[in-house]
Amino acid sequence: MSRPINIRPSILCADHSILAEEIRRVTEAGADYIHIDVMDGSFVPNFGCGSEILKTVKAHTHLPMDVHLMLVEPGRHIKFFRDLGGDVIYIHPEAGGNTGDTLREIRALGAAPGIAVNPGTSVEAVVDLLPLCDHVLAMTVEPGFGGQSFMPETLVKLEALGALAKEYGFELCVDGGISAVNITKPALCGVTGFVVGSALFGQEDYGTILKSLTRICTEATPL
Ligand code: DX5
Ligand code: ZN
Repeated sequence: MSRPINIRPSILCADHSILAEEIRRVTEAGADYIHIDVMDGSFVPNFGCGSEILKTVKAHTHLPMDVHLMLVEPGRHIKFFRDLGGDVIYIHPEAGGNTGDTLREIRALGAAPGIAVNPGTSVEAVVDLLPLCDHVLAMTVEPGFGGQSFMPETLVKLEALGALAKEYGFELCVDGGISAVNITKPALCGVTGFVVGSALFGQEDYGTILKSLTRICTEATPL
């Protein structure tokens, strides 16, 4: 059975001076998860979204938290982010440590494990990890910053991961530069989870944007 299309607003791109209001607005607009980009300034050249942000998200929505850890050796911090309420926790296999053990630890702590895969990382390099994942987040920009342009060269990998998603049962998601103009091709590859940052926050009507992204995907992939 195919999964429903779901949209995961990236809180990194929200107006943090009115963060509670932004969380409330995307929740009421029909978002499915809240995506939280945690960045340590080492794995990626930026800092972002620490424990205070997770606490604020948790306090202002009932939506599940989709926590994207861009941290060196993320295995050191899993319990910390699970205790803060992370429901889906992604780690980067490029970030060091034992990725398989860390995915097993995420599951043992009661969260859904996932890997986030950089544009330059091949499917072959991560294929052994796929049976351990509930979600796979294919990066469609280099991680670190919101507002970058979608990289069309990642589509080849999305196609391969889409086929593997059917085989292994994980949900395929994309992160980076997603908007109404480029969402169709990932959907055709089998992507059902879409992180959306700058194409949503700062716009007039969040509900209309979320509905239109979902409609474009659903029309492109009829049952
Ligand atoms: C990039 C982050 C993304 C990003 C999404 O490192 O993982 O979640 O903030 O924002 P847009 O949609 O603007 O690329
Ligand atoms: Zn992200």
